[in-house]
Amino acid sequence: MPQSPVIAPTPTANRDPVPLPPLPKLLTGQVALVTGANSGIGAAVALALGQAGAHVAVNYVSGDDSAAAVVAQIAATGVKAKAYKADVSDEGQVQAMFAAAIADFGTVDILIANAGLQRDSAFTSMTMAEWQTVLNVNLTGQFLCSREAVKEFVRRGVVPEVSRAAGKIINMSSVHQVIPWGGHVNYATSKGGIHMMMESMAQELAPQRIRINAIAPGAIRTPINTEAWNTPEAYDRLMTLVPYGRIGEPEDIAQTAAWLVSDHADYIVGTTIFIDGGMTLYPGFATNG
Ligand code: BGC
Repeated sequence: MPQSPVIAPTPTANRDPVPLPPLPKLLTGQVALVTGANSGIGAAVALALGQAGAHVAVNYVSGDDSAAAVVAQIAATGVKAKAYKADVSDEGQVQAMFAAAIADFGTVDILIANAGLQRDSAFTSMTMAEWQTVLNVNLTGQFLCSREAVKEFVRRGVVPEVSRAAGKIINMSSVHQVIPWGGHVNYATSKGGIHMMMESMAQELAPQRIRINAIAPGAIRTPINTEAWNTPEAYDRLMTLVPYGRIGEPEDIAQTAAWLVSDHADYIVGTTIFIDGGMTLYPGFATNG
């Protein structure tokens, strides 16, 4: 048996050289709104949903150019796309964004509540602003966007030729909904909150054929965690936490998200899918304990 090649764990040379086939058109005719969609995981998910046939509302809060670039890339695949500038932690802005997207696209079938940030600090020096900003954007932002999406799902109901569900939400969580994270108490708290918010919403809304799930990414190569992978030393340190031996790429999240909001995943309700290369397997215990 030939040995499978080992991909060198360096910041630049560890992408899988074998490209994935294009996504099947599982979302044709549906409308998706993706928050934080002008960079990182959000941008990759927005592109994947477009590839899968959905029209895409691209939310962002700053970076007009990168939002326009994501919109152009999605539109090039033949679906509609438009950018919506709104702070997800501001109730009025979220409501205005949903009203505008529904006016432009006719409805919203899918919400990817993805926008999130970190404001890291040792616990005793964590300021009120650092605490509040993270909770406001990561947790309250997902509440506000989910609430507006659900209102639209309930208003419209199931349209069988579009989807088996009245609507689908993915709440973007993190491995830190279960892995405690010193120096990041605000962030881990927000993700722990997302976990229980998602499950409670899913339980309440499933009878209306609304499917709510979460994705919990591990270490993914995005701007939020650059210092965890952008030098060989940092990358090697990170790999002690990742049994699978490579960092995640935004596409690793995007492919699963496109499937999870499709009818191929119609019976998945209230679940969190961890996409983390095994980070939640407690790798420190592989040779210890
Ligand atoms: C954080 C990253 C971190 C990863 C794994 C994510 O939720 O945003 O900064 O690298 O979890 O620890």
